[in-house]
Amino acid sequence: MSIFTNKLWLAPLAGYTDQAFRRVCKAHHADVLVSEMVSSDGLIRDSKRTFQYLDYQEQERPFGVQIFGNDPLTMAKAAEFVLTFQPDFIDINMGCPVKKVIRRGAGSALMKEPQIASHIITEVAKAIAGRVPLSVKFRSGWDNNELNYMDFGKMVEDSGADAACLHARTTKQMFSGLSNWDHIRNLKEHIGIPLIGNGDVKSPADAMRMYNETGCDSVMIGRGALGKPWIFENIKDFQQTGSFAAISHHDILQTVLQHIDFALEFKRESVVIKEIRAHTCFYTKGLPGGAELRQNINHCTSIKDLKSMLTSHLLIDSHDR
Ligand SMILES: Cc1cc2nc3c(=O)[nH]c(=O)nc-3n(C[C@H](O)[C@H](O)[C@H](O)COP(=O)(O)O)c2cc1C
Repeated sequence: MSIFTNKLWLAPLAGYTDQAFRRVCKAHHADVLVSEMVSSDGLIRDSKRTFQYLDYQEQERPFGVQIFGNDPLTMAKAAEFVLTFQPDFIDINMGCPVKKVIRRGAGSALMKEPQIASHIITEVAKAIAGRVPLSVKFRSGWDNNELNYMDFGKMVEDSGADAACLHARTTKQMFSGLSNWDHIRNLKEHIGIPLIGNGDVKSPADAMRMYNETGCDSVMIGRGALGKPWIFENIKDFQQTGSFAAISHHDILQTVLQHIDFALEFKRESVVIKEIRAHTCFYTKGLPGGAELRQNINHCTSIKDLKSMLTSHLLIDSHDR
């Protein structure tokens, strides 16, 4: 069955969805995983730092690489290079609202330049020549006065993409306010390729509501999975049985420890300690004594200490605090 139909996608989240977190999400039944966004210029420049984003493990499949850039031929070359890593699909980022990316005419700046965007999709599709599917991720528009997701989505389809993904916020919104799922429903009614809905799915009920209200083909979850990678299996349980099991402190602990071990497989201890802090903030959000634990974690300098801090905190029943 297609990777675009009835699947739960982990959204690309730069700085978070590295191999370790993707594998944690896979262990909790995420269906489709995507790399963090990778610069096409960096790939063409032969930059080692960029290549690390292309690494993945077999168990992550289906796994896709997301590329961004502004030049159609560079994007096509980058896509061809990415194929040597044998991902299951390629995604083009046309939704990133971050200044550094916009300034280069990439990400959601392309929603203001649909002709260039179309040229990019055409060239990338030509370069990969049907060897893997191509998806394009974009937003509702620049701001509420320029909601061009409908024309843009049709252009994405006409230019040769196999699927579209709509994060139903404007560029101006960045990540604040609410995503407008009406946009997902409207677009779904007007394009023939599968549509992945994205924005503000934080619970199993949200996921069901997105499917039901928009008719989207698949659901993509970003921030809702941070510190809660079990959201994917919760959604599947909820879909099948109408309920899902609550997560215990012991489950949280097992998940964080596994996350740390996965990270240590491909990053140095000092890097893991630094990077895991952001994740532990999410894992421990709302826990009794969580603020104090996070402060201690921020001063932690060894994995051994980090693990024992987490273990002693999470194994103490919240009623004892
Ligand atoms: C920290 C962070 C990093 C992100 N990095 C990317 C990225 O690399 N590529 C991309 O297409 N979107 C990126 N996004 C956007 C998400 O993929 C997603 O579209 C957005 O967070 C809305 O979904 P959510 O409400 O489920 O989080 C990022 C978002 C955040 C918060």
